[in-house]
Amino acid sequence: MRRAGILLLSLGFVAISSTARDMVTLRKGWEFHRGDIENANLKSDRSKGWESVSVPHDWAIDQPFDMGNDLQTVQVVQDGETHPTLKTGRTGGLPYMGTGWYRRSIDVKPGKMATLVFDGAMSEAKVWVNGCKVGEWPYGYASFHFDITPYLNPDGNDNVVMVRLENLPFSSRWYPGAGLYRNVHLITTDSLYVPVWGVHVTTPHVKDDFATVRIRTSVNTSSPADGVRVDTEIINPRGISAGRMSDIVAHVDSTGCVEQNIEVSSPALWSPETPCLYTAVTRVYDASGYLCDSVTTRFGIRTIEVIPHRGFYLNGHHRKFKGVCNHHDLGPLGAAVNRNALRHQLEMLKEMGCDAVRTSHNMPDPQLVELCDEMGFMMMIEPFDEWEIAKCRNGYHRFWDEWAERDMVAMLRHYRNNPSVVMWSVGNEVPTQCSEDGAAMAAWLRDICHREDPTRPVTAGMDQVACTLENGFAAAIDVPGLNYRTHKYNEAYDMLPQRVVLGSETASAVSSRGVYKWPVEISGNATYPDHQSNAYEVESCAWANIPEVDFALADDFPWTMGQFVWTGFDYLGEPSPYNTDAWPSHSSLFGIIDLASIPKDRYWLYRSQWRKDDHTLYVAPHWTHPGREGKITPVIAYTDLPEGELWINGVSMGRCRKLSAAEADSAVAAGDSLALIRRYRLVWDDVVYTPGEIRVVAYDDAGRAAMEQTVRTAGTPYALSLSSSQTELTASADADRPLAYITVSVVDRNGNFCPADSRLVEFEVKGQGRFRAAANGDPTSLDPLQEPRMHLFSGRCTAIIEGINADEADNPSGVVTVTAIASGLRKATLNIPVR
Ligand code: GAL
Repeated sequence: MRRAGILLLSLGFVAISSTARDMVTLRKGWEFHRGDIENANLKSDRSKGWESVSVPHDWAIDQPFDMGNDLQTVQVVQDGETHPTLKTGRTGGLPYMGTGWYRRSIDVKPGKMATLVFDGAMSEAKVWVNGCKVGEWPYGYASFHFDITPYLNPDGNDNVVMVRLENLPFSSRWYPGAGLYRNVHLITTDSLYVPVWGVHVTTPHVKDDFATVRIRTSVNTSSPADGVRVDTEIINPRGISAGRMSDIVAHVDSTGCVEQNIEVSSPALWSPETPCLYTAVTRVYDASGYLCDSVTTRFGIRTIEVIPHRGFYLNGHHRKFKGVCNHHDLGPLGAAVNRNALRHQLEMLKEMGCDAVRTSHNMPDPQLVELCDEMGFMMMIEPFDEWEIAKCRNGYHRFWDEWAERDMVAMLRHYRNNPSVVMWSVGNEVPTQCSEDGAAMAAWLRDICHREDPTRPVTAGMDQVACTLENGFAAAIDVPGLNYRTHKYNEAYDMLPQRVVLGSETASAVSSRGVYKWPVEISGNATYPDHQSNAYEVESCAWANIPEVDFALADDFPWTMGQFVWTGFDYLGEPSPYNTDAWPSHSSLFGIIDLASIPKDRYWLYRSQWRKDDHTLYVAPHWTHPGREGKITPVIAYTDLPEGELWINGVSMGRCRKLSAAEADSAVAAGDSLALIRRYRLVWDDVVYTPGEIRVVAYDDAGRAAMEQTVRTAGTPYALSLSSSQTELTASADADRPLAYITVSVVDRNGNFCPADSRLVEFEVKGQGRFRAAANGDPTSLDPLQEPRMHLFSGRCTAIIEGINADEADNPSGVVTVTAIASGLRKATLNIPVR
């Protein structure tokens, strides 16, 4: 028997390369043509206007913002609109619309089978190889693959791949990105192989002392006479073999799969706190014993249950989701996926105590799922924002009849082995909810999920709660997911057979980092001339609520399953409450973290509730408010601790204790509009602003001082100051370049933060790295995101710097030096080692 060398690759769906299988990610060597090509020569167009790009690539993110881009006059029924209005900045004000072409040459060894895998292409992809159409896939978020073997040149060399993409205007409610914004992989194998997503791992029995791992492998032969052997080995999280089976393909089932059951003793269970990962190594041998293919599949051993009246159990332990919804864009990096940017987002969410992510409202990039497996996040993966009834004139409904099941199946097969995925959603606020066919269609999609993956429950995000309770839609899914409508939770619990309610989308609170407004009032849909929302964290959209409402539902009712907050990060597009004729607003205000990856005050509110292993204390607002002298300026402490004391310039403003649930209820009844807030924050609301220093000491249950924080009035702005998310950057080969998020702040001579500065900062990057993008978190900022300058917003902005990679220099090691310069301030420099 010939043995194959083994090389682990951390790619898409995880593969092992043997001499037989090879998988490369096609990053470099692409050319891009913006705009359509008349009579394109599909064998290899040589017309003018092609530029070299690397993939992932987003053709719109480095373009100027313009109100005219995708200006939509629409009625958003979901937001309660009764007639169409002009939506400015709805999709971010960037030119994602139009046509783009990509081309690249690939070599394949003669005699090999070749498959192209697209992790996602925005959108309406049509693919040719050597002038022959190999396929098309319209949905921009779906992963798909084509066998290109029949179209290859006989000598295998210089095969031309051409991809045409087209984005229609009015096709999205947010910034979708444009182009080959996710990775493209080329897999080559021998003629006997495991097809893409051809291994399905489940763990039907999980006990303390053993688990059964069931592996169903599909091979492109079903004839026992072929003598094909499938050998599966389980590798435990420490890299040690934990079991093995080898079977002749004699008993393939109706789906052409070989089933193997392997027992693993003393399994290490996957959870957000213990993200233990096993690997199934599948080797396929032909009758002569030649190793024809070898693939690895990462999985986890864990149990999930949804129990009526009690909610969600992971590995037998009850828990409520502390989740966020996110769109796929990465702020100033646009939709072009970047593993290090995704990791950075997840690190910030982890630090906040978040344990779950909903991929609203579309299939994620596979790297996000891999990172959630590795870093410990539970996922709700969701494919659709509309079914057959339109939300957007050119939205997914155009593809529904032909593509819905294919898109679902691709998603389910792609991600059914990932332990992070604990639930499928079949759609978000689909208008079909209230149609006559709604319940039947929900059941159809639920059944597709159950057929492809019998192990996970199915939910949907419902906003038309009244009709879904009546028409059977809510009863048809395993987990009723309510978007907002917190006043309907009890009714849903009482009426529905499932006897649980999930906050599939919650809050839609809005705020702008550092922009405080007075008086401090809870409000739905407040707007201001500056197009910002109150950083005191008391505002939401009209259909939504402040975060405390969701905390109380989680705390007070055992049958609530927790929540997915709208949203973890701000995103491009949907600048509610400034989306109607409100240019230049063009990015969201919903994020707990802003578009520049800087936390808003809400971050500390969620942290104070979600992090059970660490105390939180964050005092707001900043204390530099020239002109407010003598005016009421409430002080808030975001803390898990029950009590605190505030001093202003050394004078105590008294102790403040959080209200109990009963106290908050009666205070609400007595007309205290901030009462619910007082259950979860410490609030001193009659404080008069005097410049100087405010200090809060927070006390634990035993009355001991546990934490304190001081905030000082800033003097004249004096210098820039830089801090980096990374203390060093690690160069790797053939991967996304390492990123550092540099936060720029303005400080006075004593190092006090100056929270009002808005001057322009220029960036210079030297050495082993380069400038990549910048943002400031201001939803009205029209500064281009990929030029090395950015205005400060509320005293801060962010520059994203990338280190060079191992394949870009003989010796990538060294230092990247970042300098930030602003007129009238001392410049700041930071050196980050690159290894
Ligand atoms: C929801 C919707 C989200 C987003 C959000 C804003 O209704 O599902 O996609 O639009 O509102 O509040």
